[in-house]
Amino acid sequence: MGKTISNTRIIAFTNQSGGAGKTTSAVTIAAWLAKYGLKVLFVGLDAQCDGSASLGWDQPDEVPGQATIHNVLTDPGVKLSDAIVPAYAGPSDDPKSKQIEGLDLVLESAELENAEQLLTTMMGRELWLRDALATVADDYDVILLDCPGNLGLVVVNALVAAREVIVCVKPGWKELRALTRIEQTIARVQNTFAANGANPELVGVLMVDTPTSRQSGAVYDDAKTEAEAAYQEKFLPTIRRSTKVPEAYSHQKALPFFDRSAEVTTEYAAVVKALGFRRQN
Ligand SMILES: Nc1ncnc2c1ncn2[C@@H]1O[C@H](COP(=O)(O)OP(=O)(O)OP(=O)(O)O)[C@@H](O)[C@H]1O
Ligand SMILES: [Mg+2]
Repeated sequence: MGKTISNTRIIAFTNQSGGAGKTTSAVTIAAWLAKYGLKVLFVGLDAQCDGSASLGWDQPDEVPGQATIHNVLTDPGVKLSDAIVPAYAGPSDDPKSKQIEGLDLVLESAELENAEQLLTTMMGRELWLRDALATVADDYDVILLDCPGNLGLVVVNALVAAREVIVCVKPGWKELRALTRIEQTIARVQNTFAANGANPELVGVLMVDTPTSRQSGAVYDDAKTEAEAAYQEKFLPTIRRSTKVPEAYSHQKALPFFDRSAEVTTEYAAVVKALGFRRQN
C-alpha cells in the first residue's frame, strides 16, 4: 500500500535573501538521506538551476525531449512526474558519472524567471506546488524544496506545500535580524492557508559558512551564541566555511559524493541526525 502524503516529510529550505547556503544545504542533505537508504525527491525552484547542476544536470533546458518544472507550470498536459529525473554524481551526460540511488530531482529551468508572473494569473496560485507534489509524494520518504532567495509566489507555494521549514543563515547580525521576518512570513502562510491544509513549521535554523576558529572574529561567535539562545533545539549543528563547497559544485557533485569524510560533509550528516533521520540500510 502506498504512503499517504502525511507520511512524506516535505522540507523547504528558505531565506528571503540570496547566497545563504540554501542550495548547498538542500543538495547535501538530499544526498546524505539517499545514502541513508531513504527515497528522496529534490525540487529546485530557482532560475539559477544551481540545485540541478549540483545533481548532474547543468543545462536542464537543453535535454532533448525532457520536461522541466517550467513545462509543468505552463502546460496542464505535463505532469510533475514527467519532469523527474535521476540524480547523478557528476555530469549526467558523462558515462563515468554514477547515478545516485534513491535520489531523484525535478528539473529546474532558467525560464523559472517568469514563474512569478505566470503564477499571478493562475487560479489557486499559492496551491500549485502543493497540488503538483501530491501527485508524486507517495513515491518518496522525503521531499526537499530549494527556494529562490526572495519572497515571491514561488516561495509562498513552497511554504504552503511544506510541513517543515529550515532557514539557512550566514553568521552575522544583519542575517540574524532577518530571521524574524521569515518567521512572520511562515506565520502568515499558516494563518492564511490553514483552511487549505497548510501548516509549515520552522524546525531548524542552519548557520552555514561559519568561519573556523582560525578565520573567526568575535562578532561571528556572538551572533552564533545569540542565535543558539534564541532558537535552542531548533538551532542545528553549524556548517563551517570550506573550500570543499565550491569545489564540489564545480564538479557537479553533492558533497557526500565529492568528499565523504571532509569535515563540512560530516557536519551536514550531524544536521541530518538532528532532524531525526536514521539510517535505513
Ligand atoms: N560552507 C560553505 N563554505 C564555503 N562556501 C560556501 C559554503 N556554503 C555555501 N557557500 C558558497 O556560498 C555561495 C552561496 O551558497 P548557495 O548557492 O548554497 O546559497 P543559496 O542560498 O542557495 O543562494 P541563492 O539565493 O543564490 O540561491 C555559493 O557560492 C557557495 O559555494
Ligand atoms: Mg540557491
